[in-house]
Amino acid sequence: MSSFEQRITSYIEDIDHYLLSKLPINESPPANLHKAMHYSVMNGGKRIRPLLTFASAESLEIDPKILMPAAASIELLHCFSLVHDDLPCMDDDDLRRGRPSTHKEFGEATAVLAADALLSLSFEILASDLSFGATATNNASLIALISSATGSKGITGGQQLDLNAEEKIISQSELEHIYRQKTGKLLRACVLAPTCFINISLEQMSALEVYIDSIGLAFQIRDDILEAEGSTEIIGKSSKSDIHQGKATFPKIFGLDESKKRILELLALAQNQISVFGERAHPLQYMAESIINREF
Ligand code: IPE
Ligand code: IPE
Ligand code: MG
Ligand code: MG
Repeated sequence: MSSFEQRITSYIEDIDHYLLSKLPINESPPANLHKAMHYSVMNGGKRIRPLLTFASAESLEIDPKILMPAAASIELLHCFSLVHDDLPCMDDDDLRRGRPSTHKEFGEATAVLAADALLSLSFEILASDLSFGATATNNASLIALISSATGSKGITGGQQLDLNAEEKIISQSELEHIYRQKTGKLLRACVLAPTCFINISLEQMSALEVYIDSIGLAFQIRDDILEAEGSTEIIGKSSKSDIHQGKATFPKIFGLDESKKRILELLALAQNQISVFGERAHPLQYMAESIINREF
């Protein structure tokens, strides 16, 4: 059997194809709204969340195809959160994925509405697409899991805490709580989505929870390090945004060395936990390493 990394290109093609099939046609009215939705999704995202969802399905030995609507729905939510995140009233970023942010291209009002529509589309897909073999019961469990990752105990709450912490020095546990909410919860939904289709043991569930808690934190610390060290050309977004906004970030509060040390600690914890899956852990191990080693 070929390895997970050899399937990445085709997973990305499949998810992009599916997303495109679900987005409204650009020219259909209101065309500016539909173009803004398309622009915010089909714009070179790394698709880490769908890949993590498929990796988890492989590790749990279920057909990754059945997770296609869930993976797409999570990616749409991620794109919605990025459109809002870049708005002048939030992080005020002009660049996203190497192109003008949605509000720079379409104006603020249309960007807000496009993000709203992506949020709705995400749940419309989850609730209605049974074509890959999911039942209505599976979909109800997915909706509960994924909606909880985006609400006030997930992305939205995390984004509020992130704004509240601007210009403040906060403790490591306070900072990690923000990261868990604003970034970690949606990544958790990716890894747990396959458990809406099968029963797994408590030991396996706890391993998945610790794995993704660690990798979710490491993901955001790596994002902050890339912004602190990287160039705008490579990361495709401003390398000065956190500084300009006075964000509380791991590199700013604890320094780059401590940030890198924390990532390695978190990777070791994740790898140790996921070993309960034996050889089947490979896809999730691979994703953990690629998340912490990514360059953009
Ligand atoms: C960036 O996420 C935003 C964070 C939650 C840190 P990604 O690095 O996955 O962004 P894209 O989707 O590839 O642009
Ligand atoms: C993004 O956090 C978290 C979201 C929920 C969108 P950041 O604000 O640090 O991410 P980037 O650096 O803009 O991608
Ligand atoms: Mg932000
Ligand atoms: Mg931002």
